[in-house]
Amino acid sequence: MGKVYVVGNFKGGVGKTKAVTMLSYVSAVNRHLKTLVIDLDPQGNATRVLAKTGNLSEISATITEGFESGDLRNSITHILPNLDLIGANTAFRNLTKILISKFPEDEDKQITYLNELLKPLRDEYDAIYIDVPPTISDYSDNAMLAADYCIIVLQTQELSLDGAQTYIAYMQYLADAYNNRLQVLGIIPCMLKPGGRVDNKVLQQARDLYGGNILDTIVKYQERLKVYDVEGIHMGTNYSGTQDGWDVKAHQVFIDVLNELETHKRVLEGGK
Ligand SMILES: Nc1ncnc2c1ncn2[C@@H]1O[C@H](COP(=O)(O)OP(=O)(O)O)[C@@H](O)[C@H]1O
Ligand SMILES: [Mg+2]
Repeated sequence: MGKVYVVGNFKGGVGKTKAVTMLSYVSAVNRHLKTLVIDLDPQGNATRVLAKTGNLSEISATITEGFESGDLRNSITHILPNLDLIGANTAFRNLTKILISKFPEDEDKQITYLNELLKPLRDEYDAIYIDVPPTISDYSDNAMLAADYCIIVLQTQELSLDGAQTYIAYMQYLADAYNNRLQVLGIIPCMLKPGGRVDNKVLQQARDLYGGNILDTIVKYQERLKVYDVEGIHMGTNYSGTQDGWDVKAHQVFIDVLNELETHKRVLEGGK
């Protein structure tokens, strides 16, 4: 049965959507795992990147219809072999209204709705990645309560761990209250400014707090990763038929991240 991963931080612009789109791509294309991305952000950034990745000019079925009808199957868009998407657009800004009209005065049902909707889909995928907006909201609650694992993105150039710390604390609160299976799978150090140095003080502070949860791989600024926002994720080949070096480098860092996360998962699941 597939595992569900939510990528989070209560801050915007830290690299959450980049991590979701790249990890899902690597999971599907390099690992050949059947992978689904669920975009829970009404801004639809992951949706746009993946639509371009699959050369689709538009995504017709979105998550909003799935939430309204009570079945997400008709909201799935096929992107690449092994990679599917449940996309979002601005219509999904009304999530709270949809939840209240479906489950008036039943807050538990409102925040566990995605978990219910995913039940029939879990068997069909090896990995399901959820992208969320950076708020404590019905979006993050539904995502966390549907997830087995949280992957946290940590901005190493920020002078504080605020967004990540708040996220982990809130996750633990929700896990205790509603979903005991939810665990932190790993914390990805990300650095989004060009030419910057990794803030070793922040990284050390994070290691003191969260120990082995912090990945050794650091996702540094790469112009090519930025370009994928506009062009979609791709692997170019040059005139001699070899793979484009910048694409290889951009993909490799997320192959490394996924490998480390897999190792953490084996440990948490009691394997070697
Ligand atoms: N490693 C990276 N190198 C270069 N640009 C990046 C990198 N990670 C993210 N970005 C860019 O930074 C911006 C914010 O990233 P995004 O993933 O959308 O953040 P979030 O989802 O947390 O708001 C985007 O324009 C994205 O392309
Ligand atoms: Mg985002």
